[in-house]
Amino acid sequence: MTSQTPPEPGAPGLGRGLFVAFEGGDGAGKSTQSGLLGAWLERQGYAVRHTREPGGTELGRQIRELLLHGEDGSVSPRAEALLFAADRAHHVASLVRPALEQGEVVLTDRYLDSSVAYQGAARALGHEEVRELSLWAVEGLVPDLTVLLDVPAELGRERRGEVHDRLEREADDFHDRVRRGFLDLAAREPGRYLVVDATRPAEEIAATVAARVGELLGALR
Ligand SMILES: Nc1ncnc2c1ncn2[C@@H]1O[C@H](COP(=O)(O)OP(=O)(O)OP(=O)(O)O)[C@@H](O)[C@H]1O
Ligand SMILES: [Mg+2]
Repeated sequence: MTSQTPPEPGAPGLGRGLFVAFEGGDGAGKSTQSGLLGAWLERQGYAVRHTREPGGTELGRQIRELLLHGEDGSVSPRAEALLFAADRAHHVASLVRPALEQGEVVLTDRYLDSSVAYQGAARALGHEEVRELSLWAVEGLVPDLTVLLDVPAELGRERRGEVHDRLEREADDFHDRVRRGFLDLAAREPGRYLVVDATRPAEEIAATVAARVGELLGALR
């Protein structure tokens, strides 16, 4: 669903693009919602770039392999935080910023908050340190909007089914700490977040997200 084509003449064009991140636990519905939002935007003529972390670039795909497909205990907590930050640094420099400069709408599955929630809150590394590390990596780029898909850990596990990577294999109490980490971040900056009850039907959530993104796009034009 990647599109590099600029909007047709007469279609809604953006000067500096819009950056939207989807966050939430494993199985919360991030990929589902970024797909639905992207389709809605494309129907209106916006150029949409779908991407994800980790693994949005070639270097990122290699880092993703190291991070998610190793043995349990194979990546120490600080190495884990640095690898995620390295993926993010390269992703922003080589893909996200250039797309925004072209006026595209960039939709990413996971961004900085995932590091704070997973490595900061759940691995007991300092929340602020992990955030500062990521902000350094991306030279301060934060999303215009972060959509937080909030689900209880048990439901995320049910939705993920039987396939589990190294982080997904962690117990539900790990996923509860991750969930609280995300909610704390949203509470600190409510204007930049849309927190949605992700137990609702996907189409209903998509309509809520589209309404908020529509407001932001209206303000940019
Ligand atoms: N609102 C919803 N209600 C019910 N099922 C949903 C909803 N949203 C997504 N699903 C289903 O839950 C599963 C996980 O959704 P999805 O892959 O979008 O989550 P994700 O957050 O991207 O997961 P991951 O962290 O594993 O990438 C999929 O089978 C999807 O069809
Ligand atoms: Mg996904």
